Amino acid sequence: MILVTGATGNVGSELIRNLHAAGAPVRALVRKENSAVPGGIECAVGDLSQPASISNALIGVTRVFLLGGYSDMPAVLNRLRIAKVQHVVLLSSRSIIGGQSSNAIVKMWMTSEDAVMSSGIPWTILRPSSFMSNALRWRSDIRASRPVRVHFPNIPIALIDPYDIAAAAAVVLTTGRQRNKTYELSGPIAMLPAEQLEILGRAIGRKLHAQFVPDNEAFADLLRQSSEEFADAIFRFYAKGEFDDSRVVSTVTHLTGQAPRSFEQWAINHASEFLES
Ligand SMILES: NC(=O)c1ccc[n+]([C@@H]2O[C@H](COP(=O)([O-])OP(=O)(O)OC[C@H]3O[C@@H](n4cnc5c(N)ncnc54)[C@H](OP(=O)(O)O)[C@@H]3O)[C@@H](O)[C@H]2O)c1
Repeated sequence: MILVTGATGNVGSELIRNLHAAGAPVRALVRKENSAVPGGIECAVGDLSQPASISNALIGVTRVFLLGGYSDMPAVLNRLRIAKVQHVVLLSSRSIIGGQSSNAIVKMWMTSEDAVMSSGIPWTILRPSSFMSNALRWRSDIRASRPVRVHFPNIPIALIDPYDIAAAAAVVLTTGRQRNKTYELSGPIAMLPAEQLEILGRAIGRKLHAQFVPDNEAFADLLRQSSEEFADAIFRFYAKGEFDDSRVVSTVTHLTGQAPRSFEQWAINHASEFLES
């Protein structure tokens, strides 16, 4: 049995679909009963911020797809070890590569990776670039027909479709061959926000206008959306140039045998989410 955490999220829901279609036995970890998980999948309730709460969900589980960044990751891994899990696949971030531990986001991923690597459980770590689904942060501006507030307009990112992260995770979980290895993952090309907006506009059938936000205003926006240390971390990544997320790597093709999906394809598949509900 494979336990998928984050099963209602962008990556986890794609992974559930992938594993289910392949006939693999899969269970979704959800925080609330009756969560919206792709159809027909067994669910178990648990909260990664309260490690003891995941014990029941782990009964009969041999492999776990694990999200990171929770308050006590060593305790989460301890629960997996007690349940005799044989392989854990951690979804991390490539911001960790060359990142500084004084950056709160880098530190969060370092703590999660350390907990996995020192758990004694065979592991694989996926370090993706930023997700195409981050474009959903523009949804309220687009639905309200306002200019779209764009932060860090000159920063190119090799965005990855969560579908491809899930495809890579599914290969690792079902073959078990990539143990004790880390994989950096990216999408097919590096793109600027304006290029994404143009493609998104075509997908939803409307020209979208960008409002490029100066860095000091972007920081104020970030402070409204997250803690001060995370706002500072993101600002350091993009305004201070601490994180180059533009590198294109071929790992998705190498692991899955399929080229990573384009932003055009992501935008077409998700166009309805940008329209009035
Ligand atoms: N966005 C990026 O560019 C990026 C890049 C690198 C890494 N990541 C990481 O990738 C991971 C997955 O991202 P995503 O976009 O697929 O996620 P998402 O769509 O934001 O959804 C988050 C998922 O995590 C679950 N969750 C939240 N808190 C939880 C808790 N305390 N216990 C158990 N489950 C909890 C949520 O479940 P509920 O339904 O209960 O809310 C949901 O299924 C995240 O850890 C993120 O930090 C993201």
